[in-house]
Amino acid sequence: MRLLVRAPRRLSGTVRVPGDKSISHRAALLGAIASGRTEITGYLEGEDCLNTLKAIRALGVLVTRKGPGHYLVDGAGLFGLREPGQVIDLGNSGTGVRLLMGVLAGQPFWSFLTGDDSLRRRPMKRVGEPLTRMGATVVGRDDGNRLPLGVRGARPLKAIAYASPVASAQVKTALLLAGLWADGPVTVTEPVRSRDHTERMLAGFGAKVLVDGTTVTLVPGPELLGQGVAVPGDISSAAFLLVAGLIVPGAEITVKGVGVNETRSGLLEALESMGGAVGLSGRAVAAGEPVADLMTRSAALRGALVGGSVIPRLIDEVPVLAVAACLASGRTRITDAAELRVKESDRIRLIATELGKLGARITETSDGLEIEGGARLRGASVQCGGDHRMAMALCVAGLVAEGETIVDDSECIRTSYPGFVESVNELAGTPCVEELP
Ligand code: S3P
Repeated sequence: MRLLVRAPRRLSGTVRVPGDKSISHRAALLGAIASGRTEITGYLEGEDCLNTLKAIRALGVLVTRKGPGHYLVDGAGLFGLREPGQVIDLGNSGTGVRLLMGVLAGQPFWSFLTGDDSLRRRPMKRVGEPLTRMGATVVGRDDGNRLPLGVRGARPLKAIAYASPVASAQVKTALLLAGLWADGPVTVTEPVRSRDHTERMLAGFGAKVLVDGTTVTLVPGPELLGQGVAVPGDISSAAFLLVAGLIVPGAEITVKGVGVNETRSGLLEALESMGGAVGLSGRAVAAGEPVADLMTRSAALRGALVGGSVIPRLIDEVPVLAVAACLASGRTRITDAAELRVKESDRIRLIATELGKLGARITETSDGLEIEGGARLRGASVQCGGDHRMAMALCVAGLVAEGETIVDDSECIRTSYPGFVESVNELAGTPCVEELP
């Protein structure tokens, strides 16, 4: 699918974004291994999270869809999952596969996992290696680093204290989940704290989780008990609209019911340091997570330095942050973000090449980007590399470019934000993003 994007005449109004992707995956997986029923509302019905539901079904869990985003998961308990009869395909989802590996490490049977072209290129040893140390067997291409992978669990797994070389919530979560079947505490220390949805949700389901700075410990023992989980809106999806609200002249946008967990909300701080304040109102709590309505209006942005410990807190928002930086006055430097090279695409390279085609003055560095702001963007044909966040960031750039921008391969948007095009068009009043035949 190709999207044609033009500058809107206006961009204003109030919208909601779909449920948080990270929290949806976790709700499905914890529901699957809890005892009793987990009722999830606001579940993200993007392809990534739908694949996680397919995966738990393949492991013998009953999942019932009651309505849009509304699911009942009848948990198998910690000891009730069954050997899947078929290879489990996680599609495009790194989170789906890595979190599932943690669960499978504790199951006394073989499971086989695969994914799409992008996912089969991504490194899995960061999870497989510590799980192997705990006693699981992981085999696969590239010496167990790439899908397709086979995982044979062990019970009990060995307790481990693991110092992760990367700040990755996927690594941390996989080990904490595996810890549910370990013979003692599992401790993960990260160089910088990553998103903490797992810690919060595990505690909500009754697990014993201890947090001390950048160290998290799961003490096995208690069974998990099914819960109601109301998934908040995804700040990583809201990010595209919030940045559009800052850079489209005259815009004013409110996104309601967005998760603002501080381990996820680094974008708000980065934008504020660029002169683009995001207003927060209507604070509430859902599923143990803080939620708020977020508002932006067009602002004169200036360049900033974005690096260090804020990076894991905004890692998925860098593509759209780079778009904001192109429009800002002065230079923006993004550093310490080498992880972007192993996301759904090499995002550092793609941000630089594709925004460059639109006229941005942007160069890649080994671990980030240097952006000379104040460029006038001009419509062009751009590639998103099958990467949903790249596709949406390029659409946002298209909203402020002169003429027409064509974003190729954009069906990937469905992985995390079905309804993105409709939301932008609703805010614009008339279609400014159109599907080309
Ligand atoms: C996620 C963690 C992040 C993030 C991804 C979702 C999660 O990846 O980029 O989109 O839900 O745990 P890493 O853990 O690899 O940094």
